[in-house]
Amino acid sequence: MSVRRLAAQQPESFAFSPENLAWAQTQIAKFPAGRQASAVIPLLWRAQEQHDYWLPRAAIEYVAKMLDMPVIRVLEVATFYTMFNLSPVGRYFIQLCGTTPCRLRGADDIVAVCKSRIGEQSTVTADGMFSWLEVECLGACCNAPMVQINNDYYEDLTPESFNKLLDDLAAGRPVQKGPQNGRHASEPESAVKTLQDPALYDGSVVGAWKKRFEEEEARARQAAADKEAADRALAAQAAAEPRPGKPDATRPQQAAADTPADRVAAGKAPVAPTERAKAADPAKKLSDKPTSKLKDAKAETGKSDESKG
Ligand code: FES
Repeated sequence: MSVRRLAAQQPESFAFSPENLAWAQTQIAKFPAGRQASAVIPLLWRAQEQHDYWLPRAAIEYVAKMLDMPVIRVLEVATFYTMFNLSPVGRYFIQLCGTTPCRLRGADDIVAVCKSRIGEQSTVTADGMFSWLEVECLGACCNAPMVQINNDYYEDLTPESFNKLLDDLAAGRPVQKGPQNGRHASEPESAVKTLQDPALYDGSVVGAWKKRFEEEEARARQAAADKEAADRALAAQAAAEPRPGKPDATRPQQAAADTPADRVAAGKAPVAPTERAKAADPAKKLSDKPTSKLKDAKAETGKSDESKG
């Protein structure tokens, strides 16, 4: 991590160009009144871009005044974030990843090239073309080792390819961004063995899945429609054939009670003739008695017969 100090040599003043001033006003207008300080990072970034990619003290003070912020608060932001350069950088500012994956893949050799061609970190070459800084992981670990030069990544570096890259930049020749070993993005370096099935790319796999979901949706829609139709049919049937509340036609009905009151109400004798005949028949009367009483009665009858005999 570099020491975050303002440069010893500072310009007298700083002001946005008319275009950048108009742009800054649009950024400030994005925030509610009294919250204009929220625009501090975009404004500092634009000031850095305008000032050869480093932030002088005058630019920090200018942004603080524009946002009505104490200078110390803007200085805190500028010195906290390493994306803000506090001293001059070369026309090609190299940020070299020194985190573990890049170290394991040869970042030390890239550092050695920087030191031999440019010098120590934060040193600008005499022609103003190059400076470099070691930074933490830049998120391109699959293509380690790598550097960021200005806004572009250069990956899969070797000392030879990195030297050639610097030669081309110094000479103003076009350079290839991204991997420097010929591979595409972060695909495997040698034979590509994954994601090779053509069906992945002709739409058939996606189409099969899509068809399956469409069929499931159609089945669910049909089931819902069938249920709705059945419910409607039941409701129509119930409206056309209302069932009596009592007794339930579906339950077996009990025979109406044949009580004397009912018989009188119906204009009949209070006791049914059959009941009357049954009452008059002694044998029938005996047979209607409980079993124990029947035995007693038979016993009585037997005694009386014997006495007769
Ligand atoms: S470790 Fe170098 S890019 Fe992640």
